[in-house]
Amino acid sequence: MYKPETIKELLERSPLNQSITLMGWVRTFRSNRFIALNDGSTLTNLQCVVDFEQLDESVLNAIHTGTAIKVEGKLVESQGRGQTVEVQVSSLAILGGSDPEKYPIQPKKHSLEFLREKAHLRIRTNTFAAIMRVRSALAFAVHRYFNESGFFYMNTPIITGSDAEGAGEMFKLENEDFFGKATHLTVSGQLEAETYAMGLGKVYTFGPTFRAENSNTSRHLAEFWMIEPEMAFYDLEDTMQLAEDFIKYTLGYVLEHCKEDLAFLEQRLEDEDKNKPQAERSPMRLIEKLNFVVDKPFIRLSYTEAFEILKHSKPNQKKKFKYPISEWGADLQSEHERYLVEKHFDAPVVLFDYPAKIKAFYMRLNEDQKTVRAMDVLFPGIGEIVGGSQREERLEVLEQKIKTMDIDPEELWWYLDLRRFGSAVHSGFGLGFERLVMFATGMGNIRDVIPYPRTPQNAEF
Ligand code: 4AD
Ligand code: MG
Repeated sequence: MYKPETIKELLERSPLNQSITLMGWVRTFRSNRFIALNDGSTLTNLQCVVDFEQLDESVLNAIHTGTAIKVEGKLVESQGRGQTVEVQVSSLAILGGSDPEKYPIQPKKHSLEFLREKAHLRIRTNTFAAIMRVRSALAFAVHRYFNESGFFYMNTPIITGSDAEGAGEMFKLENEDFFGKATHLTVSGQLEAETYAMGLGKVYTFGPTFRAENSNTSRHLAEFWMIEPEMAFYDLEDTMQLAEDFIKYTLGYVLEHCKEDLAFLEQRLEDEDKNKPQAERSPMRLIEKLNFVVDKPFIRLSYTEAFEILKHSKPNQKKKFKYPISEWGADLQSEHERYLVEKHFDAPVVLFDYPAKIKAFYMRLNEDQKTVRAMDVLFPGIGEIVGGSQREERLEVLEQKIKTMDIDPEELWWYLDLRRFGSAVHSGFGLGFERLVMFATGMGNIRDVIPYPRTPQNAEF
Protein backbone atom coordinates (compact mmCIF):
# COMPACT_ATOMS: atom_id res chain seq x y z
CA MET A 1 0.00 0.00 0.00
CA TYR A 2 1.28 3.40 -0.91
CA LYS A 3 1.36 5.75 2.01
CA PRO A 4 2.99 9.16 1.82
CA GLU A 5 5.43 9.43 4.69
CA THR A 6 5.74 12.63 6.72
CA ILE A 7 8.99 14.25 7.76
CA LYS A 8 8.21 13.44 11.38
CA GLU A 9 7.73 9.77 10.63
CA LEU A 10 10.79 9.69 8.44
CA LEU A 11 13.02 11.26 11.08
CA GLU A 12 11.77 8.79 13.67
CA ARG A 13 12.39 5.86 11.35
CA SER A 14 15.65 7.30 10.00
CA PRO A 15 16.21 4.78 7.18
CA LEU A 16 19.76 5.84 6.30
CA ASN A 17 20.89 5.26 2.72
CA GLN A 18 17.51 4.00 1.61
CA SER A 19 15.34 5.61 -1.01
CA ILE A 20 12.54 7.76 0.28
CA THR A 21 9.77 10.00 -1.05
CA LEU A 22 8.55 13.20 0.58
CA MET A 23 6.16 16.00 -0.19
CA GLY A 24 5.99 19.41 1.40
CA TRP A 25 6.42 23.13 0.97
CA VAL A 26 9.69 24.90 0.38
CA ARG A 27 10.58 27.18 3.24
CA THR A 28 13.83 28.45 1.75
CA PHE A 29 16.04 27.65 -1.19
CA ARG A 30 19.63 28.82 -1.10
CA SER A 31 22.71 28.54 -3.30
CA ASN A 32 20.60 26.75 -5.92
CA ARG A 33 21.28 23.67 -3.84
CA PHE A 34 19.71 23.56 -0.36
CA ILE A 35 15.97 23.29 0.10
CA ALA A 36 14.51 23.56 3.60
CA LEU A 37 11.39 21.42 3.29
CA ASN A 38 8.51 21.49 5.73
CA ASP A 39 5.33 19.42 5.61
CA GLY A 40 3.68 20.54 8.83
CA SER A 41 4.21 17.26 10.65
CA THR A 42 6.97 18.74 12.79
CA LEU A 43 8.75 22.01 13.40
CA THR A 44 11.91 20.59 11.86
CA ASN A 45 12.65 21.38 8.23
CA LEU A 46 14.36 18.62 6.35
CA GLN A 47 17.27 19.76 4.23
CA CYS A 48 17.00 18.45 0.68
CA VAL A 49 20.15 18.80 -1.37
CA VAL A 50 19.70 19.07 -5.13
CA ASP A 51 22.30 18.84 -7.83
CA PHE A 52 21.32 21.78 -9.98
CA GLU A 53 23.22 20.49 -12.96
CA GLN A 54 20.93 17.46 -13.04
CA LEU A 55 17.74 19.44 -12.66
CA ASP A 56 15.67 20.75 -15.49
CA GLU A 57 16.04 24.51 -15.73
CA SER A 58 12.26 25.05 -15.55
CA VAL A 59 12.04 22.97 -12.39
CA LEU A 60 14.96 24.76 -10.81
CA ASN A 61 13.40 28.13 -11.59
CA ALA A 62 10.13 27.13 -9.96
CA ILE A 63 11.59 26.35 -6.54
CA HIS A 64 10.64 29.25 -4.29
CA THR A 65 9.44 29.81 -0.76
CA GLY A 66 5.90 28.39 -0.73
CA THR A 67 6.26 26.00 -3.66
CA ALA A 68 4.82 22.53 -3.09
CA ILE A 69 7.23 19.83 -4.23
CA LYS A 70 7.72 16.10 -4.26
CA VAL A 71 11.25 14.79 -3.81
CA GLU A 72 12.70 11.35 -4.18
CA GLY A 73 16.15 10.50 -3.02
CA LYS A 74 18.23 8.98 -0.28
CA LEU A 75 18.38 9.87 3.38
CA VAL A 76 22.03 10.36 4.30
CA GLU A 77 24.06 11.69 7.18
CA SER A 78 24.47 15.39 6.69
CA GLN A 79 27.78 16.85 5.63
CA GLY A 80 26.85 20.30 6.82
CA ARG A 81 26.13 21.81 10.18
CA GLY A 82 22.66 22.37 11.61
CA GLN A 83 21.19 18.95 10.88
CA THR A 84 22.20 15.33 11.37
CA VAL A 85 20.49 13.94 8.27
CA GLU A 86 19.52 15.33 4.89
CA VAL A 87 18.04 14.09 1.65
CA GLN A 88 20.19 13.62 -1.40
CA VAL A 89 17.63 14.39 -4.06
CA SER A 90 17.53 12.22 -7.17
CA SER A 91 14.31 13.58 -8.60
CA LEU A 92 12.19 16.59 -7.85
CA ALA A 93 8.71 17.46 -9.11
CA ILE A 94 6.90 20.74 -8.74
CA LEU A 95 3.40 20.03 -7.41
CA GLY A 96 2.29 23.63 -7.17
CA GLY A 97 4.28 26.75 -7.91
CA SER A 98 4.28 29.90 -5.82
CA ASP A 99 5.07 33.30 -7.25
CA PRO A 100 7.71 34.76 -4.97
CA GLU A 101 6.61 38.29 -5.88
CA LYS A 102 3.12 37.58 -4.63
CA TYR A 103 3.41 34.96 -1.86
CA PRO A 104 2.85 36.89 1.37
CA ILE A 105 4.71 34.54 3.72
CA GLN A 106 8.32 35.43 3.09
CA PRO A 107 11.14 33.80 5.03
CA LYS A 108 11.43 36.69 7.46
CA LYS A 109 9.72 37.83 10.61
CA HIS A 110 6.13 38.90 10.06
CA SER A 111 4.06 40.63 12.73
CA LEU A 112 1.19 38.69 14.29
CA GLU A 113 -1.15 41.46 13.12
CA PHE A 114 -0.03 41.04 9.52
CA LEU A 115 -0.44 37.28 9.75
CA ARG A 116 -3.99 37.63 11.11
CA GLU A 117 -4.93 39.20 7.78
CA LYS A 118 -3.40 36.19 6.04
CA ALA A 119 -4.93 33.61 8.35
CA HIS A 120 -5.32 31.13 5.48
CA LEU A 121 -1.57 31.07 4.96
CA ARG A 122 -0.21 31.77 8.44
CA ILE A 123 -0.33 28.06 9.26
CA ARG A 124 2.75 27.78 7.03
CA THR A 125 4.83 29.69 9.57
CA ASN A 126 6.70 27.99 12.39
CA THR A 127 4.82 29.97 15.01
CA PHE A 128 1.30 29.07 13.86
CA ALA A 129 2.15 25.49 13.02
CA ALA A 130 3.60 25.09 16.54
CA ILE A 131 0.54 26.73 18.16
CA MET A 132 -1.91 24.59 16.22
CA ARG A 133 -0.01 21.37 16.90
CA VAL A 134 -0.12 22.22 20.61
CA ARG A 135 -3.82 23.05 20.31
CA SER A 136 -4.46 19.68 18.71
CA ALA A 137 -2.47 17.88 21.42
CA LEU A 138 -4.42 19.72 24.13
CA ALA A 139 -7.73 18.70 22.55
CA PHE A 140 -6.59 15.10 22.49
CA ALA A 141 -5.50 15.35 26.14
CA VAL A 142 -8.95 16.69 27.05
CA HIS A 143 -10.66 13.63 25.59
CA ARG A 144 -8.08 11.29 27.06
CA TYR A 145 -8.42 12.74 30.54
CA PHE A 146 -12.18 12.40 30.63
CA ASN A 147 -12.15 9.02 28.98
CA GLU A 148 -9.68 7.72 31.57
CA SER A 149 -11.78 9.26 34.35
CA GLY A 150 -15.02 7.49 33.42
CA PHE A 151 -16.76 10.42 31.72
CA PHE A 152 -18.99 10.10 28.68
CA TYR A 153 -18.59 12.54 25.81
CA MET A 154 -21.87 14.12 24.77
CA ASN A 155 -22.84 16.77 22.26
CA THR A 156 -25.20 19.53 23.25
CA PRO A 157 -27.21 21.50 20.68
CA ILE A 158 -25.71 24.51 18.99
CA ILE A 159 -29.12 25.96 18.15
CA THR A 160 -31.13 26.36 21.30
CA GLY A 161 -34.05 28.21 22.81
CA SER A 162 -32.68 28.31 26.35
CA ASP A 163 -30.31 30.86 27.76
CA ALA A 164 -27.83 29.21 30.09
CA GLU A 165 -26.07 32.27 31.40
CA GLY A 166 -28.90 34.79 31.37
CA ALA A 167 -26.45 37.40 30.25
CA GLY A 168 -28.37 38.29 27.11
CA GLU A 169 -25.30 38.13 24.91
CA MET A 170 -26.73 35.81 22.29
CA PHE A 171 -26.66 35.57 18.52
CA LYS A 172 -30.31 35.34 17.56
CA LEU A 173 -31.41 33.21 14.62
CA GLU A 174 -33.70 34.89 12.13
CA ASN A 175 -36.02 32.15 10.97
CA GLU A 176 -38.34 31.92 13.94
CA ASP A 177 -40.95 30.24 11.75
CA PHE A 178 -38.72 27.25 11.26
CA PHE A 179 -38.66 26.24 14.90
CA GLY A 180 -41.87 27.97 15.86
CA LYS A 181 -40.02 29.85 18.56
CA ALA A 182 -37.15 32.26 19.12
CA THR A 183 -33.77 30.54 18.98
CA HIS A 184 -30.13 31.51 19.14
CA LEU A 185 -26.66 30.04 19.07
CA THR A 186 -25.75 28.45 22.37
CA VAL A 187 -23.69 30.35 24.95
CA SER A 188 -23.07 27.15 26.94
CA GLY A 189 -24.12 23.52 26.81
CA GLN A 190 -24.42 23.37 30.56
CA LEU A 191 -28.18 23.04 31.04
CA GLU A 192 -28.43 20.19 28.55
CA ALA A 193 -25.28 18.61 30.01
CA GLU A 194 -26.96 18.65 33.42
CA THR A 195 -29.81 16.53 32.06
CA TYR A 196 -27.33 13.90 30.89
CA ALA A 197 -25.27 13.97 34.08
CA MET A 198 -28.51 13.11 35.88
CA GLY A 199 -28.65 9.86 33.96
CA LEU A 200 -25.15 8.97 32.83
CA GLY A 201 -23.41 10.26 35.95
CA LYS A 202 -20.34 11.97 34.53
CA VAL A 203 -20.44 13.64 31.13
CA TYR A 204 -18.56 16.35 29.28
CA THR A 205 -19.07 18.45 26.19
CA PHE A 206 -16.39 19.98 24.01
CA GLY A 207 -17.88 22.20 21.39
CA PRO A 208 -18.28 25.68 19.95
CA THR A 209 -20.11 28.33 21.95
CA PHE A 210 -21.11 31.83 20.91
CA ARG A 211 -21.23 35.14 22.72
CA ALA A 212 -22.32 38.39 21.18
CA GLU A 213 -20.48 40.43 23.79
CA ASN A 214 -19.02 43.47 22.16
CA SER A 215 -15.74 43.21 24.03
CA ASN A 216 -12.81 43.71 21.75
CA THR A 217 -10.18 42.34 24.11
CA SER A 218 -7.26 39.98 23.71
CA ARG A 219 -9.21 37.32 25.68
CA HIS A 220 -12.66 37.32 24.11
CA LEU A 221 -13.97 35.67 20.98
CA ALA A 222 -17.50 35.70 19.62
CA GLU A 223 -17.06 32.00 18.79
CA PHE A 224 -14.95 29.91 21.13
CA TRP A 225 -14.65 26.29 22.16
CA MET A 226 -15.71 25.29 25.62
CA ILE A 227 -15.15 22.13 27.60
CA GLU A 228 -17.94 21.50 30.07
CA PRO A 229 -17.86 18.53 32.44
CA GLU A 230 -21.00 17.93 34.50
CA MET A 231 -21.12 15.41 37.34
CA ALA A 232 -23.93 13.93 39.40
CA PHE A 233 -23.19 13.66 43.13
CA TYR A 234 -20.22 16.07 42.98
CA ASP A 235 -20.25 19.05 45.30
CA LEU A 236 -18.25 22.23 44.80
CA GLU A 237 -15.18 20.83 46.59
CA ASP A 238 -15.10 17.81 44.27
CA THR A 239 -15.48 20.10 41.28
CA MET A 240 -12.66 22.44 42.26
CA GLN A 241 -10.46 19.38 42.68
CA LEU A 242 -11.51 18.04 39.29
CA ALA A 243 -10.81 21.36 37.55
CA GLU A 244 -7.32 21.54 39.04
CA ASP A 245 -6.56 17.93 38.24
CA PHE A 246 -7.87 18.30 34.69
CA ILE A 247 -5.87 21.43 33.88
CA LYS A 248 -2.70 19.88 35.29
CA TYR A 249 -3.22 16.75 33.24
CA THR A 250 -3.67 18.58 29.93
CA LEU A 251 -0.67 20.86 30.51
CA GLY A 252 1.39 17.86 31.66
CA TYR A 253 0.40 16.10 28.45
CA VAL A 254 1.74 18.85 26.19
CA LEU A 255 4.88 19.20 28.31
CA GLU A 256 5.54 15.57 27.56
CA HIS A 257 4.39 15.38 23.94
CA CYS A 258 5.09 18.82 22.45
CA LYS A 259 8.64 19.47 23.66
CA GLU A 260 9.99 20.78 20.38
CA ASP A 261 7.06 23.13 19.73
CA LEU A 262 7.07 24.43 23.30
CA ALA A 263 10.80 25.11 23.15
CA PHE A 264 10.22 27.05 19.94
CA LEU A 265 7.33 29.03 21.43
CA GLU A 266 9.38 29.75 24.54
CA GLN A 267 12.13 31.23 22.38
CA ARG A 268 9.56 33.24 20.42
CA LEU A 269 8.20 34.68 23.65
CA GLU A 270 11.68 35.60 24.83
CA ASP A 271 12.46 37.37 21.56
CA GLU A 272 9.17 39.24 21.82
CA ASP A 273 9.86 40.18 25.43
CA LYS A 274 13.17 41.77 24.50
CA ASN A 275 11.24 44.59 22.84
CA LYS A 276 9.10 45.21 25.90
CA PRO A 277 9.77 47.26 29.00
CA GLN A 278 11.00 45.15 31.92
CA ALA A 279 7.70 45.39 33.79
CA GLU A 280 5.73 43.82 30.94
CA ARG A 281 8.02 40.86 30.38
CA SER A 282 6.99 37.38 31.45
CA PRO A 283 8.51 36.66 34.84
CA MET A 284 9.00 32.98 33.98
CA ARG A 285 10.08 31.13 30.89
CA LEU A 286 7.23 29.27 29.20
CA ILE A 287 8.17 25.70 30.09
CA GLU A 288 9.13 26.68 33.63
CA LYS A 289 5.73 28.35 33.99
CA LEU A 290 3.87 25.28 32.75
CA ASN A 291 5.82 23.05 35.14
CA PHE A 292 5.08 25.46 37.95
CA VAL A 293 1.34 25.15 37.36
CA VAL A 294 1.51 21.37 37.04
CA ASP A 295 3.55 20.95 40.25
CA LYS A 296 2.07 23.48 42.67
CA PRO A 297 -1.35 23.27 44.33
CA PHE A 298 -3.72 26.05 43.27
CA ILE A 299 -4.57 28.60 45.96
CA ARG A 300 -8.18 28.45 47.12
CA LEU A 301 -10.01 31.25 48.83
CA SER A 302 -13.51 32.62 49.10
CA TYR A 303 -14.72 35.76 47.38
CA THR A 304 -14.98 37.39 50.81
CA GLU A 305 -11.34 36.61 51.62
CA ALA A 306 -10.29 37.90 48.22
CA PHE A 307 -12.39 41.02 48.75
CA GLU A 308 -10.56 41.75 52.04
CA ILE A 309 -7.16 41.27 50.41
CA LEU A 310 -8.10 43.56 47.55
CA LYS A 311 -9.65 46.18 49.78
CA HIS A 312 -6.46 46.51 51.82
CA SER A 313 -4.13 46.16 48.86
CA LYS A 314 -1.69 48.90 47.92
CA PRO A 315 -3.22 49.65 44.51
CA ASN A 316 -6.66 50.02 46.09
CA GLN A 317 -5.44 52.30 48.85
CA LYS A 318 -3.43 54.36 46.41
CA LYS A 319 -6.49 54.51 44.13
CA LYS A 320 -4.67 52.73 41.33
CA PHE A 321 -7.59 50.44 40.42
CA LYS A 322 -9.89 51.73 37.73
CA TYR A 323 -12.72 50.11 39.70
CA PRO A 324 -11.99 50.78 43.39
CA ILE A 325 -12.91 48.02 45.84
CA SER A 326 -15.20 49.34 48.53
CA GLU A 327 -18.55 47.52 48.74
CA TRP A 328 -18.77 43.78 49.33
CA GLY A 329 -20.70 42.23 46.49
CA ALA A 330 -19.14 44.01 43.53
CA ASP A 331 -18.02 41.90 40.60
CA LEU A 332 -14.25 41.53 40.35
CA GLN A 333 -12.70 43.13 37.29
CA SER A 334 -9.77 41.68 35.46
CA GLU A 335 -7.41 44.19 37.16
CA HIS A 336 -8.45 42.69 40.53
CA GLU A 337 -8.10 39.12 39.33
CA ARG A 338 -4.67 39.91 37.95
CA TYR A 339 -3.59 41.53 41.18
CA LEU A 340 -4.54 38.42 43.14
CA VAL A 341 -2.95 35.94 40.75
CA GLU A 342 0.10 37.84 39.56
CA LYS A 343 0.99 40.06 42.50
CA HIS A 344 -0.47 38.75 45.73
CA PHE A 345 -0.29 34.96 45.34
CA ASP A 346 1.84 34.55 42.23
CA ALA A 347 0.02 31.28 41.49
CA PRO A 348 -3.24 30.05 39.97
CA VAL A 349 -6.12 30.93 42.25
CA VAL A 350 -9.54 29.34 42.72
CA LEU A 351 -12.11 31.76 44.07
CA PHE A 352 -15.36 30.36 45.45
CA ASP A 353 -18.58 31.37 47.19
CA TYR A 354 -19.33 34.47 45.16
CA PRO A 355 -22.14 36.92 45.92
CA ALA A 356 -25.37 35.48 44.51
CA LYS A 357 -26.22 38.79 42.80
CA ILE A 358 -23.34 38.66 40.35
CA LYS A 359 -23.74 35.02 39.32
CA ALA A 360 -26.15 32.97 37.20
CA PHE A 361 -29.54 31.70 38.38
CA TYR A 362 -28.63 28.01 38.57
CA MET A 363 -25.92 28.24 41.23
CA ARG A 364 -26.61 26.70 44.62
CA LEU A 365 -27.49 29.18 47.32
CA ASN A 366 -25.40 28.93 50.51
CA GLU A 367 -26.85 28.90 54.01
CA ASP A 368 -25.90 32.56 54.41
CA GLN A 369 -28.49 33.36 51.68
CA LYS A 370 -26.01 35.85 50.20
CA THR A 371 -23.45 33.73 48.42
CA VAL A 372 -23.60 30.89 45.93
CA ARG A 373 -21.45 27.80 45.47
CA ALA A 374 -19.65 29.21 42.46
CA MET A 375 -15.99 28.97 41.58
CA ASP A 376 -13.68 30.61 39.07
CA VAL A 377 -10.16 29.48 38.30
CA LEU A 378 -7.89 32.47 37.62
CA PHE A 379 -4.62 32.10 35.74
CA PRO A 380 -1.60 34.37 35.46
CA GLY A 381 -1.64 36.39 32.25
CA ILE A 382 -5.06 35.00 31.34
CA GLY A 383 -7.48 35.86 34.12
CA GLU A 384 -10.56 33.64 34.29
CA ILE A 385 -9.94 30.30 32.62
CA VAL A 386 -12.71 28.28 34.30
CA GLY A 387 -16.15 29.18 35.60
CA GLY A 388 -18.23 26.61 37.40
CA SER A 389 -20.56 25.85 40.28
CA GLN A 390 -22.57 23.42 42.29
CA ARG A 391 -26.06 23.54 40.80
CA GLU A 392 -29.20 24.40 42.76
CA GLU A 393 -30.87 21.02 43.24
CA ARG A 394 -33.83 22.22 45.37
CA LEU A 395 -36.93 22.87 43.28
CA GLU A 396 -38.45 25.61 45.43
CA VAL A 397 -35.19 27.50 45.81
CA LEU A 398 -34.56 27.34 42.07
CA GLU A 399 -38.09 28.43 41.22
CA GLN A 400 -37.77 31.35 43.58
CA LYS A 401 -34.45 32.34 42.02
CA ILE A 402 -35.85 32.16 38.51
CA LYS A 403 -38.65 34.43 39.57
CA THR A 404 -36.43 37.07 41.17
CA MET A 405 -34.11 37.05 38.19
CA ASP A 406 -37.02 37.61 35.82
CA ILE A 407 -36.49 34.46 33.79
CA ASP A 408 -39.44 32.76 32.08
CA PRO A 409 -39.98 29.44 33.92
CA GLU A 410 -41.92 28.10 30.91
CA GLU A 411 -38.70 28.03 28.92
CA LEU A 412 -37.02 25.94 31.58
CA TRP A 413 -39.77 23.37 32.27
CA TRP A 414 -37.46 20.50 31.38
CA TYR A 415 -34.64 21.91 33.50
CA LEU A 416 -36.97 22.17 36.46
CA ASP A 417 -38.09 18.58 35.85
CA LEU A 418 -34.58 17.48 36.86
CA ARG A 419 -35.42 18.85 40.30
CA ARG A 420 -38.79 17.11 40.29
CA PHE A 421 -37.61 13.62 39.44
CA GLY A 422 -34.61 12.20 41.23
CA SER A 423 -32.88 15.44 42.03
CA ALA A 424 -29.43 15.25 43.60
CA VAL A 425 -26.38 17.34 44.30
CA HIS A 426 -24.49 17.91 41.06
CA SER A 427 -21.86 20.28 39.72
CA GLY A 428 -19.82 21.23 36.72
CA PHE A 429 -17.66 23.84 35.10
CA GLY A 430 -16.74 25.37 31.77
CA LEU A 431 -13.18 25.88 30.59
CA GLY A 432 -12.52 28.19 27.66
CA PHE A 433 -10.34 26.08 25.41
CA GLU A 434 -8.65 29.02 23.68
CA ARG A 435 -7.62 30.45 27.04
CA LEU A 436 -5.96 27.15 27.86
CA VAL A 437 -4.19 27.19 24.50
CA MET A 438 -3.06 30.78 25.16
CA PHE A 439 -1.57 29.74 28.46
CA ALA A 440 0.14 26.64 27.05
CA THR A 441 1.66 28.49 24.10
CA GLY A 442 2.44 31.81 25.80
CA MET A 443 0.48 33.71 23.14
CA GLY A 444 -0.89 37.03 24.33
CA ASN A 445 -3.85 37.38 21.98
CA ILE A 446 -6.70 34.89 21.72
CA ARG A 447 -6.97 35.64 17.98
CA ASP A 448 -3.71 33.79 17.48
CA VAL A 449 -4.70 30.48 19.04
CA ILE A 450 -7.79 29.68 16.95
CA PRO A 451 -7.56 29.19 13.17
CA TYR A 452 -10.18 31.73 12.19
CA PRO A 453 -11.09 34.13 15.00
CA ARG A 454 -14.55 35.65 15.13
CA THR A 455 -14.53 39.06 16.78
CA PRO A 456 -16.58 42.25 16.40
CA GLN A 457 -16.32 43.48 12.78
CA ASN A 458 -14.32 40.44 11.76
CA ALA A 459 -15.60 37.23 10.21
CA GLU A 460 -13.21 36.85 7.26
CA PHE A 461 -12.47 33.36 5.95
O1 4AD B 1 -17.84 31.60 33.02
P1 4AD B 1 -18.65 31.16 31.85
O2 4AD B 1 -19.55 32.16 31.22
O3 4AD B 1 -19.45 29.88 32.36
C1 4AD B 1 -20.41 29.21 31.69
O4 4AD B 1 -20.77 29.39 30.55
C2 4AD B 1 -20.95 28.04 32.49
N1 4AD B 1 -22.27 27.69 31.94
C3 4AD B 1 -19.97 26.90 32.40
C4 4AD B 1 -20.40 25.69 33.19
O5 4AD B 1 -20.50 25.76 34.38
N2 4AD B 1 -20.66 24.59 32.52
O6 4AD B 1 -17.67 30.61 30.73
C5 4AD B 1 -16.78 29.56 31.02
C6 4AD B 1 -15.42 29.85 30.46
C7 4AD B 1 -14.75 31.10 31.03
O7 4AD B 1 -14.15 30.83 32.26
C8 4AD B 1 -13.74 31.43 29.95
O8 4AD B 1 -12.58 30.62 30.07
C9 4AD B 1 -14.46 31.02 28.70
O9 4AD B 1 -15.48 30.11 29.06
N3 4AD B 1 -15.08 32.17 28.00
C10 4AD B 1 -14.61 32.71 26.87
N4 4AD B 1 -13.54 32.42 26.11
C11 4AD B 1 -13.32 33.15 25.01
N5 4AD B 1 -14.12 34.16 24.61
C12 4AD B 1 -15.23 34.50 25.33
N6 4AD B 1 -16.04 35.47 24.90
C13 4AD B 1 -15.51 33.76 26.53
N7 4AD B 1 -16.48 33.80 27.46
C14 4AD B 1 -16.21 32.83 28.34
MG1 MG C 1 -17.49 33.26 34.17
